[in-house]
Amino acid sequence: MGAANHQIARGAVFSPVSAPASSIATLAWFTLAVTAGIFLIVLGLLLYSVVRFRARATDEPREPAQLYGSNHIEFAWTAIPALIVFVLVLTTIRTIYDVQAAREPPGAIHVRVIGHQWWWEFQYPDLKIVTANELHVPLSDPAHPTPTWLQLESADVAHSFWVPRLAGKTDLIPNRINTMWMDPRQAGIYLGQCAEFCGTEHAMMLIRVIVEPRPAFDQWVAAQRLAAGNPKVEGHGKQVFESNACVNCHSVRGTSARGTYGPDLTHLMSRQTLGSGVALNTLEHLKIWVGDPGRMKPGVLMPAMNLSQNDLDDLVAWMVTLK
Ligand code: CUA
Repeated sequence: MGAANHQIARGAVFSPVSAPASSIATLAWFTLAVTAGIFLIVLGLLLYSVVRFRARATDEPREPAQLYGSNHIEFAWTAIPALIVFVLVLTTIRTIYDVQAAREPPGAIHVRVIGHQWWWEFQYPDLKIVTANELHVPLSDPAHPTPTWLQLESADVAHSFWVPRLAGKTDLIPNRINTMWMDPRQAGIYLGQCAEFCGTEHAMMLIRVIVEPRPAFDQWVAAQRLAAGNPKVEGHGKQVFESNACVNCHSVRGTSARGTYGPDLTHLMSRQTLGSGVALNTLEHLKIWVGDPGRMKPGVLMPAMNLSQNDLDDLVAWMVTLK
């Protein structure tokens, strides 16, 4: 990973860098422009009438002549809004069609996204890798697009996957499979967030999408496929991990840990953050996190293991070798 890849790209819905997000943004600008035009015309006519026809001291003190029924005016204020609505409906249907009926080109990357309370599981079935909270996708070349196709599922309650600069939000619903896609045209780290209230830590169910040039993506894939960490670093920390309940929820390839309830930790240190974006992934933060996860993320489903300071230090020292 190059240094440029660590830059978090700011911006939101109005600065899209990927196909579905850009068609949605275009539609939003168009709708805003039409409605802003209507607002200005109506406000202009209203202000004109208020000023032009205001009560004057010279007016006779009686009600002005009352007018009823004008076919021309009634026709105009029915037909023009109907036409405007018709145009907005057509452009919206066209955008929905562009997004939802898009054909998957050969070479698309497939990711199975599983929402959990409160983290994201990313499985790449074709590439045989599993990671969490930080989705890596290749930069798509306009000449040979390599979009990423996401299959969205939930392990518990409804969640919603939303990275505003890449695509619209799509819900993850238990016992149902939804799909969405993204075709990013600018490298960078894009932030997202669960967009459906899913419990205590909904606000700390963050997403990072790392869009990187194809060679960097392939390198990341190759590294993720390797076995865990440094086999030379065995020692006490690994024993602490394997002899505690950690293994019931987490997997680390090459150890006895095969749990699937929590994130796969095989390449834990390849991730920038921990706890689904709650803190940067550093040795100090890991110590606080593993020692008492609820201190960083109240309500988190990972329990505090009440390890001795010595066990905790050794465990975290081993964890940071999971590169
Ligand atoms: Cu998951 Cu909100």
